[in-house]
Amino acid sequence: MKTNIILTGFMGAGKSVIGKKLEATCKKGLVSTDDLIEKREGRPITAIFKDSGEPYFRKVEDEVTREVSQQTNVIVDCGGGIVLNKDNVANLKQNGVVFYLSATPEQLFERIKGETHRPLLHVDNPLEKIRELLKCREPFYRQADHTIDTSDKTVDDIAKEIIRLMPNE
Ligand code: S3P
Repeated sequence: MKTNIILTGFMGAGKSVIGKKLEATCKKGLVSTDDLIEKREGRPITAIFKDSGEPYFRKVEDEVTREVSQQTNVIVDCGGGIVLNKDNVANLKQNGVVFYLSATPEQLFERIKGETHRPLLHVDNPLEKIRELLKCREPFYRQADHTIDTSDKTVDDIAKEIIRLMPNE
């Protein structure tokens, strides 16, 4: 029986806020792969990217993903790039149902503009960068078990939809 709720999607898709809502509603723990990476490294993600580079970050992300995939009864708030490694998706699916929280580039941009902790968006034109990355990543995100269009829904509605789609919740 799959008891983990795996939240994937682009930066700004609402994984963290929906993860917290689900944690308050179901009897499951909440883990964030970004938090685990920062804890393990003892430095923020921006510093990992800046000083050690993205490939190093991805290596730690893969390790952390392997570990959280073994847990049960948890909600996993995944970093937006986790799906780029197909082994991560396969690992997460062992004990979990994978949800892709989808949104348009414009909505994602609206939600994250002004925030500074996402190194991939430290560019002159973040909206264009979001469009470009999302286009490349969309097929990977679509490997999820379920896609939830977050466009016109409240956090409550999205959480309820996810719970409805989980076996035995
Ligand atoms: C990334 C998303 C970030 C974080 C890192 C890389 C990505 O997580 O893992 O900055 O490649 O999309 P969030 O999606 O939680 O912002």
